[in-house]
Amino acid sequence: MNKNLRIPVIAGNWKMNNGPAASAVLIEKLKPLTANAQCKIVCAVPFTSIPAALNAAQGSNIAVAAQNVHWEESGAYTGEISAQMLKELGVEYVVVGHSERRQFFGETDVTVQKRVRAALNGGLTVILCVGELLGERKSGITSQIVRTQTEIALAGVTAQELQRVIIAYEPVWAIGTGETATPEQANEVCAILREQLAVLYDKEAADATVIQYGGSMNDQNAVELLAQPDVDGGLIGGASLVAEKFAVIVKAAG
Ligand code: PGA
Repeated sequence: MNKNLRIPVIAGNWKMNNGPAASAVLIEKLKPLTANAQCKIVCAVPFTSIPAALNAAQGSNIAVAAQNVHWEESGAYTGEISAQMLKELGVEYVVVGHSERRQFFGETDVTVQKRVRAALNGGLTVILCVGELLGERKSGITSQIVRTQTEIALAGVTAQELQRVIIAYEPVWAIGTGETATPEQANEVCAILREQLAVLYDKEAADATVIQYGGSMNDQNAVELLAQPDVDGGLIGGASLVAEKFAVIVKAAG
């Protein structure tokens, strides 16, 4: 399928940056810079900045995402936030399974699966992150790793629900390191993921799924990465914190 039939999604992952005031300022700065974008724009902001970000984004083409979601609707889960709570605020997207959550907060393929399920049940669109460690790439098992992560995360997800899943291929060695995957490396794995979706679902579902690349994508390398046939957008950390840089990436997608 012609990749032009998929609408690219450029998502900023602000991580633990920008409180409510700074979030509103950054979104206000972004609005005029990205007003004519041909892609979807998402900003994944810290939980406490969600209301301010939503308020600032009102009437614009910028959607707001949370960076995580718990698998239960409510209960004794200190420190967690449910899909229903996010939905009540007006959040549309949620990032699930980011490698920093896997690395620092004990996230496993199984907890990722539970969070994906809860997010879909709660009416959210999921940005599902998968990616290999440097050692895994060196051992030649990248394909196996990302396939396993994807298969477990999507267990029980129907083809219809898959329409609310974006997959972000994020090689862990490229995140926050300034070391970007080459466009060919990024495309190779995005294509492997698309083939896997065709096996798990069918070709139509695979062709319709947005697959992003993430890992040191910036205003300098976005054009080349986003031109790849199986790369439908980006999940951007560092460069998403600077409005002008993020805007250049948004332009590169459209
Ligand atoms: P980075 O982060 O762009 O700073 O490498 C990407 C991500 O963690 O999603």
